Amino acid sequence: MLGLEDFIDDTLETVRSTVKGKAIIACSGGVDSMVAATLVSKAIGDRLLAVYVDNGLMRKGETAEVESMLREMGINYRIIDASEEFFAALKGVDDPEGKRKVIGERFIRVFERVAKEFGAEVLVQGTIAPDWIESGDGVRDTIKSHHNVGGLPKDMGMELCEPLRDLYKDEVRDLARFLGVRASERQPFPGPALAVRCLGEVTPESIAIVREACFIVEDEIMKAADAGKMERPWQYFAVLLPSKTVGVQGDRRAYGRTVAIRAVSSIDGMTATYADIPLEVLGAISSRITHTMKVSVNRVVYDITNKPPATIEWE
Ligand code: XMP
Repeated sequence: MLGLEDFIDDTLETVRSTVKGKAIIACSGGVDSMVAATLVSKAIGDRLLAVYVDNGLMRKGETAEVESMLREMGINYRIIDASEEFFAALKGVDDPEGKRKVIGERFIRVFERVAKEFGAEVLVQGTIAPDWIESGDGVRDTIKSHHNVGGLPKDMGMELCEPLRDLYKDEVRDLARFLGVRASERQPFPGPALAVRCLGEVTPESIAIVREACFIVEDEIMKAADAGKMERPWQYFAVLLPSKTVGVQGDRRAYGRTVAIRAVSSIDGMTATYADIPLEVLGAISSRITHTMKVSVNRVVYDITNKPPATIEWE
């Protein structure tokens, strides 16, 4: 990558010369989309509208947090609640690539509607290099269709602008720190959101379980890191497995779901090593999850697989 200032100058010039009219940007609140929004708004000002879609699959408190970031950035933005539409489209879909494609398509349909109202012809996305590398390009195999690349419908009625396409995550974070973007240290969160952390069919009920489990994993790990018991991993979350196992509650048989804890260290997400979380912290996470969600979850396991051979997300 060029020096940060040169990269910014070049990007602003390219965006100014390619986006002549209005554009919308898909903002998830992650570091990639927030950096892309910051750069493009510097280039075209109020001709950019940032759009955050609440697809019903986001983490606890995420929508409010993203809205506060967008407000603070002082750019045009809209928050759209499309959760019903996403859940309806995901009904009966249980295969990982199928879920990614459905979500990618829904996002685009929502963006197309907003773009039409705003009069935009360009869709800006915070796509970075691993997104398109892992989505396959005819030369490489498709590891997963990142929703902002391989999940795009063929008949999309907008031009694409992807100013960060050649950067890796660590480079985007450097840029974010340089630009003073508040999301610079946020852990990565996938475009298809909690849908790829809820194995099998996605329902509002299973998303509620994995949302609470992810919140507990994040909260306990942050507390442990703040107390000096461990380093904060690069990424850490919960996954809800589709199968049930037998357990016991009081003197009664229980039959409940399993939550897997995933935490990894990485530099750019292309490879990763499972994080060495102290057993005491894993134990605290397990007790809190099974206690909070007694009715639905009776088992917690820890994933000790590196990438490769696994990927970071389970789908
Ligand atoms: P995997 O699971 O492929 O993930 O090892 C590598 C990193 O990418 C994130 N990820 C995504 N990010 N859109 C994104 O913007 C996606 O569709 C997507 N899928 C995975 C994942 O959380 C990890 O940080």
